[in-house]
Amino acid sequence: MDRQHAARILGTGSFVPIRVVPNEEFTDTLDTSDEWIRSRTGIRERRYANLGDTSASMGTEAARRALRVAGLAPTDIDLIVCATVTPDLMCPSNACLIQASLGCRHVPAFDVVAACSGFVYALSVGEQFVRSGTARNVHVIGSEVLSRVSDFTDRNTCILFGDGAGAVVVGRSDSTAGIHEIRLFADGTRQELIQVPSRVTPNPPPGAGSLPAIKFLRMSGREVFKFAVYQLSELVEGALKDCEALGRTLKLIVPHQVNIRIVDAALESLGMSADRVMVNLDKYGNTSAASVPIAFDEAIQTGRAGPGDTVLLVAFGGGLTWSSALITL
Ligand code: ACO
Repeated sequence: MDRQHAARILGTGSFVPIRVVPNEEFTDTLDTSDEWIRSRTGIRERRYANLGDTSASMGTEAARRALRVAGLAPTDIDLIVCATVTPDLMCPSNACLIQASLGCRHVPAFDVVAACSGFVYALSVGEQFVRSGTARNVHVIGSEVLSRVSDFTDRNTCILFGDGAGAVVVGRSDSTAGIHEIRLFADGTRQELIQVPSRVTPNPPPGAGSLPAIKFLRMSGREVFKFAVYQLSELVEGALKDCEALGRTLKLIVPHQVNIRIVDAALESLGMSADRVMVNLDKYGNTSAASVPIAFDEAIQTGRAGPGDTVLLVAFGGGLTWSSALITL
């Protein structure tokens, strides 16, 4: 088997459901307002899956689009990795469902769970399979239906989330394009800050004392906010040093899309201008593992980043996890 091939992004794609949910839809049932949501988060609207849309079906569509851009057929794919905290089933994985829907060969397929960092974690898997020569072309997908785990009685959380999927194809590079540096971190001691429940474990778990049952996603927003600003700044700072060492200029940052105030606070601490950051959270809210690949695809489709440009993907979320990927297109 061949060894040590540089890996690059061959194509990107994304899919969001057609149902647009503006902030006003929350004001009948919750003590909130369009003004509060816009000014405290930057979100104007988000998309919700229709009955027929699932995490795997949206992931399939995003993957199909990425494949088209890459100019490849489903049979060219050697591995499928899907990042999600809202899979269709616990088993089989979303990746297996996507493999079948796309008509791929019997290639390995599995899911990765790292919340909003999931896509960058999954990308690190794809990159290493390509670099080692184990796979030639890898589908890396992030797909979520957070509307199905949102608590619509909790104004602190439900207004933040949306549904959608994004995907890339990772393949071999024979040019200066490449995935340079991926950094992954986790701190399980802060697990209680963001939680998505599972039906597998009794709820609350044995020994958990007086903890309330968790039926929906729950989050300590203020704590996560501080963590996100700190890690976003740290990861960008690290990437700027990596760029310097590589002799490249960082053209665009594609951060996890959750709150414009997190992005603004990090930019301020770094002394960077807003035109170097891709933001589309106003349209889609926080789509967890799908947020970075959806924003990455939009950055490329709209010409914010193109061939030869160096881009930083940065994500942070439940776990806690945080991560970055420095890429030249
Ligand atoms: N409408 C009106 N008022 C609200 C709303 C709302 N939708 N939500 C909260 N409030 C109220 C609170 O109840 C509170 O009222 P109080 O002072 O009377 O108690 C007040 O607004 C301020 O609350 P804070 O929590 O301090 O509001 P903050 O400005 O921090 O914004 C938010 C909350 C948007 C959740 C913010 O903290 C945030 O974006 N956190 C980060 C989330 C994140 O990064 N998540 C990423 C991971 S998600 C994942 O992994 C799946």
